[in-house]
Amino acid sequence: ISADTRAKIDAEIAKYPKRRGALLPALHLVQAEHGHVSTDAAKELAELFELRPVDVMEVVSFYNMFYDRPQPRHHVYVCTNLPCSLRGARGLLRELEAHLGVHAGEATPDGRVMLGHEECLGACGYAPMMRVDGVYHEDLDLESAKRILDSLE
Ligand code: FES
Repeated sequence: ISADTRAKIDAEIAKYPKRRGALLPALHLVQAEHGHVSTDAAKELAELFELRPVDVMEVVSFYNMFYDRPQPRHHVYVCTNLPCSLRGARGLLRELEAHLGVHAGEATPDGRVMLGHEECLGACGYAPMMRVDGVYHEDLDLESAKRILDSLE
Protein backbone atom coordinates (compact mmCIF):
# COMPACT_ATOMS: atom_id res chain seq x y z
CA ILE A 1 0.00 0.00 0.00
CA SER A 2 1.54 3.30 -1.08
CA ALA A 3 2.16 6.18 1.30
CA ASP A 4 -0.49 8.21 -0.54
CA THR A 5 -3.13 5.51 -0.14
CA ARG A 6 -2.07 4.96 3.45
CA ALA A 7 -2.62 8.68 4.16
CA LYS A 8 -6.09 8.48 2.61
CA ILE A 9 -6.88 5.43 4.75
CA ASP A 10 -5.72 7.29 7.86
CA ALA A 11 -8.06 10.14 6.93
CA GLU A 12 -10.94 7.66 6.63
CA ILE A 13 -10.12 6.08 9.97
CA ALA A 14 -10.34 9.52 11.60
CA LYS A 15 -14.00 9.76 10.52
CA TYR A 16 -15.16 6.71 12.49
CA PRO A 17 -15.53 6.15 16.24
CA LYS A 18 -13.97 2.70 15.84
CA ARG A 19 -11.15 2.24 13.35
CA ARG A 20 -12.62 -0.92 11.84
CA GLY A 21 -15.54 1.21 10.61
CA ALA A 22 -13.20 2.48 7.91
CA LEU A 23 -12.34 -0.95 6.56
CA LEU A 24 -14.70 -0.76 3.56
CA PRO A 25 -13.40 2.65 2.42
CA ALA A 26 -9.86 1.35 2.96
CA LEU A 27 -10.56 -1.66 0.75
CA HIS A 28 -11.93 0.63 -1.95
CA LEU A 29 -8.77 2.75 -1.75
CA VAL A 30 -6.46 -0.27 -1.95
CA GLN A 31 -8.41 -1.67 -4.87
CA ALA A 32 -8.33 1.70 -6.64
CA GLU A 33 -4.54 1.63 -6.33
CA HIS A 34 -3.87 -1.99 -7.28
CA GLY A 35 -6.98 -3.21 -9.08
CA HIS A 36 -7.53 -5.88 -6.45
CA VAL A 37 -6.83 -6.63 -2.78
CA SER A 38 -3.85 -8.96 -2.61
CA THR A 39 -2.95 -11.19 0.31
CA ASP A 40 -0.06 -8.86 1.12
CA ALA A 41 -2.35 -5.81 1.11
CA ALA A 42 -4.80 -7.70 3.35
CA LYS A 43 -1.96 -8.34 5.80
CA GLU A 44 -1.07 -4.66 5.85
CA LEU A 45 -4.71 -3.69 6.37
CA ALA A 46 -5.12 -6.30 9.09
CA GLU A 47 -2.21 -4.75 10.98
CA LEU A 48 -3.61 -1.28 10.52
CA PHE A 49 -7.12 -2.26 11.62
CA GLU A 50 -5.99 -4.61 14.40
CA LEU A 51 -7.65 -7.57 12.71
CA ARG A 52 -6.46 -10.92 11.41
CA PRO A 53 -5.68 -11.11 7.67
CA VAL A 54 -8.45 -13.69 7.34
CA ASP A 55 -10.94 -11.14 8.72
CA VAL A 56 -9.97 -8.72 5.95
CA MET A 57 -10.19 -11.40 3.26
CA GLU A 58 -13.62 -12.46 4.55
CA VAL A 59 -14.86 -8.94 3.82
CA VAL A 60 -13.19 -9.02 0.39
CA SER A 61 -14.86 -12.33 -0.48
CA PHE A 62 -18.27 -11.28 0.91
CA TYR A 63 -18.74 -8.26 -1.38
CA ASN A 64 -18.72 -8.85 -5.10
CA MET A 65 -17.26 -5.38 -5.74
CA PHE A 66 -13.94 -6.45 -4.25
CA TYR A 67 -11.45 -8.71 -6.01
CA ASP A 68 -8.72 -10.84 -4.49
CA ARG A 69 -6.76 -11.30 -7.70
CA PRO A 70 -5.77 -9.28 -10.78
CA GLN A 71 -8.74 -8.39 -12.94
CA PRO A 72 -9.55 -7.69 -16.58
CA ARG A 73 -9.34 -4.01 -17.52
CA HIS A 74 -13.14 -3.53 -17.66
CA HIS A 75 -16.07 -5.03 -15.79
CA VAL A 76 -19.43 -5.17 -17.56
CA TYR A 77 -22.48 -6.38 -15.68
CA VAL A 78 -25.87 -6.68 -17.34
CA CYS A 79 -28.76 -6.57 -14.89
CA THR A 80 -30.91 -9.66 -15.42
CA ASN A 81 -33.39 -9.21 -12.61
CA LEU A 82 -37.08 -9.37 -13.45
CA PRO A 83 -37.85 -5.79 -14.60
CA CYS A 84 -34.76 -5.72 -16.82
CA SER A 85 -35.49 -9.24 -18.09
CA LEU A 86 -39.02 -8.21 -19.03
CA ARG A 87 -37.40 -5.53 -21.20
CA GLY A 88 -35.05 -7.97 -22.92
CA ALA A 89 -31.98 -8.07 -20.66
CA ARG A 90 -31.45 -11.82 -20.87
CA GLY A 91 -31.49 -11.73 -24.66
CA LEU A 92 -29.17 -8.73 -24.56
CA LEU A 93 -26.73 -10.63 -22.35
CA ARG A 94 -26.79 -13.63 -24.75
CA GLU A 95 -26.06 -11.31 -27.66
CA LEU A 96 -23.19 -9.65 -25.81
CA GLU A 97 -21.77 -13.08 -24.95
CA ALA A 98 -21.77 -13.90 -28.65
CA HIS A 99 -20.32 -10.49 -29.52
CA LEU A 100 -17.40 -10.96 -27.12
CA GLY A 101 -17.06 -14.72 -27.58
CA VAL A 102 -17.35 -15.48 -23.87
CA HIS A 103 -19.98 -16.75 -21.46
CA ALA A 104 -21.26 -14.60 -18.60
CA GLY A 105 -18.77 -14.88 -15.76
CA GLU A 106 -15.79 -15.05 -18.12
CA ALA A 107 -13.22 -12.55 -19.34
CA THR A 108 -12.10 -12.11 -22.92
CA PRO A 109 -8.77 -13.88 -23.55
CA ASP A 110 -7.00 -10.55 -24.07
CA GLY A 111 -8.00 -9.45 -20.56
CA ARG A 112 -10.00 -6.53 -21.92
CA VAL A 113 -13.53 -7.23 -20.65
CA MET A 114 -15.13 -9.35 -17.97
CA LEU A 115 -18.80 -9.92 -18.77
CA GLY A 116 -21.25 -10.86 -16.05
CA HIS A 117 -24.79 -10.47 -14.92
CA GLU A 118 -26.03 -8.73 -11.84
CA GLU A 119 -29.12 -8.63 -9.71
CA CYS A 120 -31.17 -5.41 -9.54
CA LEU A 121 -28.96 -2.34 -9.66
CA GLY A 122 -31.77 0.02 -8.74
CA ALA A 123 -32.33 1.47 -12.19
CA CYS A 124 -35.37 -0.62 -13.13
CA GLY A 125 -37.19 2.36 -14.66
CA TYR A 126 -34.48 2.57 -17.31
CA ALA A 127 -34.31 -1.11 -18.20
CA PRO A 128 -32.51 -2.81 -19.72
CA MET A 129 -29.30 -1.51 -18.23
CA MET A 130 -25.73 -2.49 -17.53
CA ARG A 131 -22.95 -1.26 -15.28
CA VAL A 132 -19.57 -0.69 -16.92
CA ASP A 133 -16.70 -0.04 -14.52
CA GLY A 134 -19.19 1.35 -12.04
CA VAL A 135 -21.00 3.61 -14.54
CA TYR A 136 -24.64 2.92 -15.40
CA HIS A 137 -25.77 2.71 -19.03
CA GLU A 138 -29.54 2.64 -19.36
CA ASP A 139 -32.34 2.19 -21.92
CA LEU A 140 -30.03 -0.07 -23.89
CA ASP A 141 -30.64 -1.86 -27.13
CA LEU A 142 -28.25 -4.31 -28.70
CA GLU A 143 -26.54 -1.75 -30.91
CA SER A 144 -25.99 0.80 -28.15
CA ALA A 145 -24.68 -1.90 -25.80
CA LYS A 146 -22.27 -3.22 -28.44
CA ARG A 147 -21.03 0.32 -29.14
CA ILE A 148 -20.26 0.75 -25.44
CA LEU A 149 -18.37 -2.55 -25.31
CA ASP A 150 -16.44 -1.77 -28.47
CA SER A 151 -15.35 1.60 -27.06
CA LEU A 152 -13.57 -0.07 -24.13
CA GLU A 153 -9.81 -0.23 -24.67
FE1 FES B 1 -32.52 -4.20 -13.53
FE2 FES B 1 -33.66 -3.24 -11.31
S1 FES B 1 -34.17 -5.03 -12.42
S2 FES B 1 -32.07 -2.37 -12.48
